[in-house]
Amino acid sequence: MSINAEFLKKEAEMKALSIRKTSMIRYKFIVLSGKGGVGKSIVTANLGLAFSKLGFKGKIGILDADIHGPSIPRYLGYENAEVLTDGEKLYPVETKYGIKLMSASFFLKDKELPIIWRGPLKIKLIRDMITSTEWGNLDLLLIDTPPGTGDEIQGIVEYISKITGAVVVTIPSDVSLHVVKRAVSFLKTVNVPLKGIIENMSFVRCNDGSVKRPFGEGGAKVEKELGEKIIARIPMNPLLSNPIDDTNNPYEYDNLNNNEVAISFMEAAKKLIESQSGV
Ligand SMILES: Nc1ncnc2c1ncn2[C@@H]1O[C@H](COP(=O)(O)OP(=O)(O)OP(=O)(O)O)[C@@H](O)[C@H]1O
Ligand SMILES: [Mg+2]
Repeated sequence: MSINAEFLKKEAEMKALSIRKTSMIRYKFIVLSGKGGVGKSIVTANLGLAFSKLGFKGKIGILDADIHGPSIPRYLGYENAEVLTDGEKLYPVETKYGIKLMSASFFLKDKELPIIWRGPLKIKLIRDMITSTEWGNLDLLLIDTPPGTGDEIQGIVEYISKITGAVVVTIPSDVSLHVVKRAVSFLKTVNVPLKGIIENMSFVRCNDGSVKRPFGEGGAKVEKELGEKIIARIPMNPLLSNPIDDTNNPYEYDNLNNNEVAISFMEAAKKLIESQSGV
């Protein structure tokens, strides 16, 4: 067999393996945005916590597929955790929140150094994380992605069996409409259904209970022009600017009713599941 044919055969086998490995997971949501820094990773981490609270504890995985800026472990307070390995197998880090984590961040000694990967290597690394991770018995997988709609996201979509749908994260600035449109048309090209838009940094709640919208009202335009409902409006809140720990965990407060961060994410999580079951 020529080197080329052998390479193609190996690639096809790896793809089949990654599809097989993810085919048993019932719900698979990919989180993306057309733009960096809008809160994809914070939203992914919080959706994980919300799903855990809603009964998926121990059955959720998060695949941090942003290999340039992997941040989920940091946001959940597991930045220095180590992945156990056995030959080619990788075991995800099990967090106390009942969320299993896999991230390139676990393989970096110096978390501050930027990773410089060339295109095909990036896809290969993501694919290897998918094929080698032993998730165990999982009901739901959340996939955090790098900014934009580039090759890596296309690669992820190819290597995961039947993605349930996408969550697009945006902020209510004027440019957001354009950015959401781009993300939505990208989803059409890769055949992944849009399951919900989450407007992050939507408002600030003042001490007197009133609301200020420093980024504007872009979300309303998104709903009008795209005919898509926003499934959650997440406030700007210090709970979301620091890693989760025992003193900063909106899901562990005694009275969840007073906690609009946790409530908003739990509502979004419920809607994502309902959208799938057609309720
Ligand atoms: N609603 C919020 N309230 C307060 N801080 C927030 C909120 N959303 C995000 N942040 C903060 O903004 C920063 C960027 O968020 P995050 O890393 O989730 O964005 P991202 O879209 O994943 O970025 P990148 O495109 O680089 O992956 C983080 O420091 C995060 O803690
Ligand atoms: Mg991110």
